[in-house]
Amino acid sequence: MFKKAFNRTKDELKDLPLVDESGEKVRVREKRLEDIENEYFWRTDQELSRLDATRPISMSYEDFFRYSREEMRFASYRSKRLALETLDGIHIGNVMYYDFNPQKKETEIGIMIGHKDYWGKGYGADALQVILKYLFQTLELNRVYLHTLSWNYRAQSAFAKVGFKEVRPVRRGGQDFLLMDLLRENFS
Ligand SMILES: CC(C)(COP(=O)(O)OP(=O)(O)OC[C@H]1O[C@@H](n2cnc3c(N)ncnc32)[C@H](O)[C@@H]1OP(=O)(O)O)[C@@H](O)C(=O)NCCC(=O)NCCS
Repeated sequence: MFKKAFNRTKDELKDLPLVDESGEKVRVREKRLEDIENEYFWRTDQELSRLDATRPISMSYEDFFRYSREEMRFASYRSKRLALETLDGIHIGNVMYYDFNPQKKETEIGIMIGHKDYWGKGYGADALQVILKYLFQTLELNRVYLHTLSWNYRAQSAFAKVGFKEVRPVRRGGQDFLLMDLLRENFS
C-alpha cells in the first residue's frame, strides 16, 4: 500500500506514487521521452493553443526536447503532466495537475486531447474520471478546480459530465474564463 499523501514530509511528497490507471477508453500514465514529438506538434498548433488560452510555442524542437526531458527528470510534487493514450496504445493528449496544495488539499487541473480525431467521443470525460479518482482517492484531496475559456463549450460540457460545477467568471490576461470546481464529497 502507498502511504497516504498527507502523512508525508515535503521530501517524501516529491515521490508521490507513479500513475498508471485506465478507465473505459483511456490510460493515464507517466510521460515518456517518445511522447515529446507529439507534444511539440500539439504545442505548435494554432487551434490547440487558442483553446488553451496561449500562443503556439516558437522554440525549436531540439530546445523543446531538452526542456521536456528536464521537466521529466526533475519532477515537482506541485505539478505533474501525464500522458493520455487509448487502450490500444495511441498517444492522444495530456492531463496535468498544478498548484497542488497539500495544506488546502486542493489542486488545479488541465487537459488537452491533441489528436483531434478523438474529440467529442468521450475520451476527455473518461480521462477526467481517471485523474479525479487518483486525486481524490490516492492523494486524498478535497477539491479540484480549473479555468476554462468562457466560450469553450465542449470542454465545459466534458467537465460538467464528471461533476464539475460553475463557480464564477474570471477575467485574466485579457481573456474571459469560467472557474469550475468539484469537491470530493460530490465525486462518484
Ligand atoms: C476539452 C476536451 C478535453 C474534452 O474531451 P472530449 O473527449 O472532446 O469530450 P467528451 O466527448 O468527453 O465530452 C464532450 C461533450 O461536449 C459536447 N460538445 C461537443 N461540442 C460542443 C459544443 N460546441 N457545445 C456544447 N457541447 C459540445 C459533446 O457532445 C460531449 O457531450 P456528450 O457526451 O453528452 O454528447 C477535448 O475536446 C480537448 O482536449 N480539446 C482541445 C483542448 C481543450 O479545449 N482543452 C481544454 C482546456 S480547459
